[in-house]
Amino acid sequence: MDQKDIENLRQEYEAASLNETDVDANPMRQFDKWFNEAINCKVHEPNAMTLATATHDGRPSARIVLLKGFSDDGFKFYTNYLSRKGKEISKNPLGSLVFFWGDMERQIRVEGTIEKLDKNYSEKYFHSRPKASQIGAAASPQSQEIDSREALEQKMAELELEYADSEVPKPSYWGGYVLRPRYIEFWQGRRSRLHDRIVYKKTDNKNWKIVRLAP
Ligand SMILES: Cc1cc2nc3c(=O)[nH]c(=O)nc-3n(C[C@H](O)[C@H](O)[C@H](O)COP(=O)(O)O)c2cc1C
Repeated sequence: MDQKDIENLRQEYEAASLNETDVDANPMRQFDKWFNEAINCKVHEPNAMTLATATHDGRPSARIVLLKGFSDDGFKFYTNYLSRKGKEISKNPLGSLVFFWGDMERQIRVEGTIEKLDKNYSEKYFHSRPKASQIGAAASPQSQEIDSREALEQKMAELELEYADSEVPKPSYWGGYVLRPRYIEFWQGRRSRLHDRIVYKKTDNKNWKIVRLAP
């Protein structure tokens, strides 16, 4: 594609607006409202979110993971604790999430501290997944260099045989995390780049302050 064509790619946003007076005092209830609206608008994979982590000395990395639950505690997702993200979180628990729901002209940014979920909680979720996904999680040393796709498929086939008639045990290195937010920003696209940005900042252990940022 021509560079000029890329420069000229832009969208005028006019679907909705967001006001300090409209939003819920609690950001997780506001997230719930927007999440339900995303589902009703049939946004493709509304629970796909970019998760950014960083090494202990601040080198960032980002990838998509799936949101698998949220509550006043925070945002939950599942992964391999020995993956790149898992290793980074173990040394530096600060993380951030971004949701982009383009059809709704919305973005949500979240920042906070990431903690492992209770093992029993992860266990329960692991066994609720389709058996093939459970075996896939056990077969894949996520983020490690591997010899070939064939080696991975071979491992999968071995485990399918091994657990043909029994439950797949949850690998000790697989489980959930919760990102406990201290900052949540709701972004609504508006005309002429004058977008709405409403931010919740945690002021102490339970109270949130709501402010508006310039777009
Ligand atoms: C739509 C989508 C959903 C994904 N969901 C997850 C997930 O829930 N958990 C996960 O570990 N990886 C998920 N992945 C794969 C990650 O993006 C990434 O490749 C993997 O977690 C390894 O990341 P890391 O090497 O930075 O740890 C998903 C990828 C996509 C595109």
